[in-house]
Amino acid sequence: MTPIAPGTVWLVGAGPGDPDLLTRKAERLICAASVIFYDALVGQGVLDLVPPHVRLVSVGKRSGRHSKDQKTIDALIVEAALAGERVVRLKGGDPAIFGRATEELDACRAAGVPVHICPGVTAASAAAADLGLSLTLRGMARKLIFVTAHSKSGAGLDLDWASLADPDATLAVYMGKAAAPLVARGLIDAGLPPETPVALIENASRGDVTTFSTSLSLLPMAAQTALQDGPAVILIGKAMNAGLGQRPATPRNTALAIASAVPASIASASSPAVQKDRTSRRPKAGCSGRLPKA
Ligand SMILES: C[S@@+](CC[C@H](N)C(=O)[O-])C[C@H]1O[C@@H](n2cnc3c(N)ncnc32)[C@H](O)[C@@H]1O
Repeated sequence: MTPIAPGTVWLVGAGPGDPDLLTRKAERLICAASVIFYDALVGQGVLDLVPPHVRLVSVGKRSGRHSKDQKTIDALIVEAALAGERVVRLKGGDPAIFGRATEELDACRAAGVPVHICPGVTAASAAAADLGLSLTLRGMARKLIFVTAHSKSGAGLDLDWASLADPDATLAVYMGKAAAPLVARGLIDAGLPPETPVALIENASRGDVTTFSTSLSLLPMAAQTALQDGPAVILIGKAMNAGLGQRPATPRNTALAIASAVPASIASASSPAVQKDRTSRRPKAGCSGRLPKA
């Protein structure tokens, strides 16, 4: 058992949703907590592992739908720790990747509260696993770039396109759904070929995961028409083309009619056409040595 001393905060990575992707340490911390503050992206299967005596508090952050602002969350975890609670701050994916971890670490340290991090599986890793692909590719994708396409409210998307448009990199774009047209335009204008392979993965690792394969020129249309309300990550680069021709032609791997609706000028630049792969997997719940809650 990983103990949590009273008055201590752990920032714990809940992974992308599938409870089987939780680390053993994360599960132990969840079971040892007296209070858990969790984000909206934490999967239900993970929440099902929380013992009934642990107080669960939703702080519900989703882009554009923040139920509590960051300063309030900082104050809540500090206040709970100062009251002697064993605090777990449960965050989707890895807490140190686009997770506002620094604000929470700073708030705890400023208040003299001991704070630690338990890493988690980040969305891009789960997304690549759902595709059955590697994020890196020997000799072709030697660099992996994680970037957020979410800007501070009111600010424009201020990314260094020249450094991102690297043909030998895989670019993992978090929070990129709304900004997909800007991402495609920025990268193409900076010299990345329009036919660069792109994959969009919504609800990675979850029972309702959906994947789409397309090209950079078709990314805006794919993001607009194919994605729904779930969290999605966009993977861009040659590694996303690996093994495409060898994937089995099953009903899970069907071409989306979207390509036929694309103007010829754009469609001609696309390779491969948008492919949609809707995988339905039964989410697994359970906690080692414990029965899942009814
Ligand atoms: C605030 S960021 C948090 C990232 C998280 N800390 C991580 O390491 O995955 C939220 C974004 O992560 C991505 N994301 C999180 N969970 C995901 C999932 N299950 N499938 C696809 N993308 C996901 C989406 O881009 C979402 O908008």
